[in-house]
Amino acid sequence: MLDHEQEQALIAAAYAAAENAYAPYSDYPVGAALLFDDGWVVTGCNVENASYGLALCAETVAVAKAMGEGRRGGLVALAVVGLKADSAPITPCGRCRQVLNEVAALGATDPLVLCVSKDDVRRVALSALLPHAFGPGHLA
Ligand code: THU
Repeated sequence: MLDHEQEQALIAAAYAAAENAYAPYSDYPVGAALLFDDGWVVTGCNVENASYGLALCAETVAVAKAMGEGRRGGLVALAVVGLKADSAPITPCGRCRQVLNEVAALGATDPLVLCVSKDDVRRVALSALLPHAFGPGHLA
């Protein structure tokens, strides 16, 4: 569990990342911040493309950055924010849940997902967002 200060820091990191979002087509900037068990935080923003379907979500970009830095587990929490997510807290899309599950499964953690809107934070375990997940264990 994160204390209030840790939550606020992770959310602030996600908002800072959202400022770098490249979202000219949807005009829906998103930021994500991933916290690892040694305190390391990595962020991502959505990166869209003129070929619309190629858009990369913020969470997926953050996971790619983490794994590109050699992380293989240890994911304890993440925050997802949308600069336009005013009312309902933004939740990771289905593809991102699966991408997040890979790094979670590698380290046998069940990360806390902070789904954020302007006035609200919804706290939910990744396993609740993606029950009965398919993961690397199935291929072993
Ligand atoms: N998006 C994310 O970055 N993360 C999510 O979990 C939901 C959607 C992005 C994709 C696209 O660039 C924009 O938000 C609108 O769908």
